[in-house]
Amino acid sequence: MSKLEEVCERVLALITPSEEERERVMGLAREVMNRLRAVLREEGVDGEVRLEGSLAKDTWLSGEADVDIFVRFKPDVSRDFFRKRFLELAREATKGFKHVERFAEHPYLECLAGDVRVNIVPCYAVEPGGWLSATDRTPYHTQYVLSRLDERLRAAIRLLKKFMKGIGAYGAEIKVGGFSGYLCELLAIYYGGFREVLEGALRWRKGVLIDPANHYRGREGEAREFFRHHLIVVDPVDPARNAAASVRLDKMCIFMAAAKAFLER
Ligand code: UTP
Ligand code: MN
Repeated sequence: MSKLEEVCERVLALITPSEEERERVMGLAREVMNRLRAVLREEGVDGEVRLEGSLAKDTWLSGEADVDIFVRFKPDVSRDFFRKRFLELAREATKGFKHVERFAEHPYLECLAGDVRVNIVPCYAVEPGGWLSATDRTPYHTQYVLSRLDERLRAAIRLLKKFMKGIGAYGAEIKVGGFSGYLCELLAIYYGGFREVLEGALRWRKGVLIDPANHYRGREGEAREFFRHHLIVVDPVDPARNAAASVRLDKMCIFMAAAKAFLER
């Protein structure tokens, strides 16, 4: 085993959830999902309650679970229900948990069950391209990633997320301006491994284009013109979206420098 592999093995042992932790977190997820289903049934509203995010993909880091529960509504469900009433129902379904007020552009509820954060997010069930709200892509993201993952790639994703956290480049929120979980997944899938992503990043230049689903094959110039960003990772489920739009130039460069240092040492 090479020194690099040895380090990765040791880190993986620390960040891969144990059976016990999985059971605990998945049990909580199931409980909240069942309560949500009951509350929606009582209200007489049809919505598909589903687990999304890194828990659904088994790409989450031990000790940092965050339960992402999405409720998928038919497009005829009113905007008003979607924005207001739904949040009241989500509150009801999580009675007893500590609620965190969120004032995002997109309505969702965040609460805490002990040390585990639970997000309850509404979205619309639409065909790709017919997006009605910002989170409608998420079920398609989950589907795409799941269709490509195996155990080796799951390990690569966990390592990449942890690496990003270590250098302060993990997270799409404005405060960080870094790499989202989904972006880490796309990079690991595209390059085929953790070391491969780091090696790939050494070749990045301003305006690099990564197009995992080949939406722009033969039209790369067009894609660069359209996205106009220093790092372009075309979203496999939406050719019009750059999954790396959140990555600031400084965070891109920090990642490239860290990748170089890590590989060298
Ligand atoms: P998360 O930020 O929780 O990502 O968003 P994650 O993949 O579960 O990663 P970790 O392990 O918790 O850090 C969950 C899903 O919600 C959607 C994304 O599709 C993501 O996969 N999402 C998240 C959005 O659509 N918009 C956002 O601003 C954030
Ligand atoms: Mn999550």
